[in-house]
Amino acid sequence: MSQKFNLKDTVREYFKWKVEHNPNRYIRDEIIPCERKYFESIPAGSKVLDVCCGGGRTAVFLAKKEYEVVGLDFVEEMCRKASENAREKYVKAEFVIGDATELPFKDQSFDYAICVGNSLNNLTSSLEIKLVLLEMARVLKEDGGIFTVTQDKFSPIRFIREMHRFVGILPKRVWRIMTGGSCDGLHFGEGFYGSDNRHSIKGFVHNTSKYELKRYMQTTGLDFQIQNKKEYMREKGFSSKFSPSHIITGHKKGRAGRD
Ligand SMILES: C[S@@+](CC[C@H](N)C(=O)[O-])C[C@H]1O[C@@H](n2cnc3c(N)ncnc32)[C@H](O)[C@@H]1O
Repeated sequence: MSQKFNLKDTVREYFKWKVEHNPNRYIRDEIIPCERKYFESIPAGSKVLDVCCGGGRTAVFLAKKEYEVVGLDFVEEMCRKASENAREKYVKAEFVIGDATELPFKDQSFDYAICVGNSLNNLTSSLEIKLVLLEMARVLKEDGGIFTVTQDKFSPIRFIREMHRFVGILPKRVWRIMTGGSCDGLHFGEGFYGSDNRHSIKGFVHNTSKYELKRYMQTTGLDFQIQNKKEYMREKGFSSKFSPSHIITGHKKGRAGRD
């Protein structure tokens, strides 16, 4: 019989475990080129919300640039690590423990809202992804912008793996041994993962397609674009390797409907 559990608690436990066992993974200074490009477009002094901020990798980078930064994560230990990270770098940033599907902020309180590091894929369902995008749009001021980077469920490697699972080329038992999880009840694009099979703690991903993201973004009322990372970088004048990541950029129209 398959084990009953709450997926959200599984994700929370996984990241709590990760930050305790591999904190550098979430506080390293590395900012990827597409993030850097977008961040360069944020005007000085803007108030930026980093949704699912982890150990403050991007929040601390932005705080160093003298933006007013608030990071939010539902794992208390991540927020604590992010605060330590900011203190060590002598920058000011606020970290709030909270759920991205119900942001504890007033409407129109930020100039920018970002959600990076494939954090959208760590939400447990399509409904949650849609809620987070709606929440990010809600807390944006007029003329504000959103930026997210997320993995496509139809990336070639994932697709082959998923086909094994769903078409049954790999017997379910082999899949279970490989992933440490059950494939029963999971949708295409979902799966458990773990970096260390000696531990029973598993992470969970729910990957989406560009078309699903488009449908969710249409409900936010923002002007938006969804591009492959390669396409996004090319538009900015840089070459980039093929990537299974999508970049969503959105903009809340100002009162006069300016672009
Ligand atoms: C892959 S990590 C990325 C962290 C960070 N954005 C980065 O790029 O380094 C995903 C983060 O999302 C957080 N998270 C997942 N679901 C969440 C939710 N519903 N509300 C708030 N945080 C969440 C996890 O705790 C974890 O810190």
